[in-house]
Amino acid sequence: MVQNVAGVLPELEPEDYHLLSGIEQGMRFSEWVAKEKIPKFSRLTTEDVEYRIDRCLDRELIERKTIQYEGYTLKFEGYDALALHSFAERDTISGFGASLGVGKESDVYEVQSYEPMALKYHREGYTNFREVMKERDYTSDREHVSWLYTARKAAEREYEALEALYPQVSVPRPVDQNRHAIVMEKIDGVELSQTKLEDEQVRPVLGLILRELRDAYAEGRVHADMSEYNVFVAESGITIFDWPQSVPTDHENADEFLERDIENVVGYFRRKYPQHVGDADIEALASAIAEGSYETVEKFIER
Ligand SMILES: Nc1ncnc2c1ncn2[C@@H]1O[C@H](COP(=O)(O)OP(=O)(O)O)[C@@H](O)[C@H]1O
Ligand SMILES: [Mg+2]
Repeated sequence: MVQNVAGVLPELEPEDYHLLSGIEQGMRFSEWVAKEKIPKFSRLTTEDVEYRIDRCLDRELIERKTIQYEGYTLKFEGYDALALHSFAERDTISGFGASLGVGKESDVYEVQSYEPMALKYHREGYTNFREVMKERDYTSDREHVSWLYTARKAAEREYEALEALYPQVSVPRPVDQNRHAIVMEKIDGVELSQTKLEDEQVRPVLGLILRELRDAYAEGRVHADMSEYNVFVAESGITIFDWPQSVPTDHENADEFLERDIENVVGYFRRKYPQHVGDADIEALASAIAEGSYETVEKFIER
């Protein structure tokens, strides 16, 4: 469990951020940054580095390990502090609120801006470092891959996807991105998985979801992680979120992912509302959605 660093932020001084960002820079080369190198990376004196290390260790923002040398590494909390500090510096956010959700690979919090927003910290490298290492996209021509890089890449991908899709597709409006964090519109609603739809809502809601997937495809994207956990349902409609693993429609597996997405959604509706949703030809639905036609979907929904 990664702790919420918002409470620590008021205690931090500018030089503490220099230390954190110095270690961050050193981590491009090795996971444990040798203490002697930190003055250069952080542009602090040796004595100041000493002092700042203690402060950051006390606040559990960094970790120390001594094997062949004395090395330091950022904890996720230290990386969170850097991202949060950047958002505050550029006035993206002015306050920090309660947790909105803990995902498979993320922590999401409410933050204050001119209106309440959602801040999502990506934790990809933390939860399944090994698996991500296997994935070529993330690691291509890099020997040393730290979770920093993995988590930041995921945030960048998600932000790019939201920018490409908003507002044509019903996704949270993207506001800002820094390191492994994104700030986006806060969505009010209930996750589909926690909703019990009224009889007359079942097929229309399924229809809305499939229509958004069609519109996303038309914008050149396949979600690739669709499930009842990544859809919000509200009076005003549905919103599809959690896009970091989405792929462009010209990706070699895009159509396979689209089919799996549709299978996941339709399968969920069939299990939960068997009296409303019948057998589906997933392949036909997927190709209709890919072609941008909605008739096949409508026929399926209206049965
Ligand atoms: N824009 C948002 N507004 C409100 N809550 C959100 C928002 N984005 C995510 N959440 C909450 O945080 C949880 C995790 O977010 P999600 O993007 O699904 O991450 P993960 O990849 O970890 O599943 C969601 O299930 C949801 O409850
Ligand atoms: Mg999710």
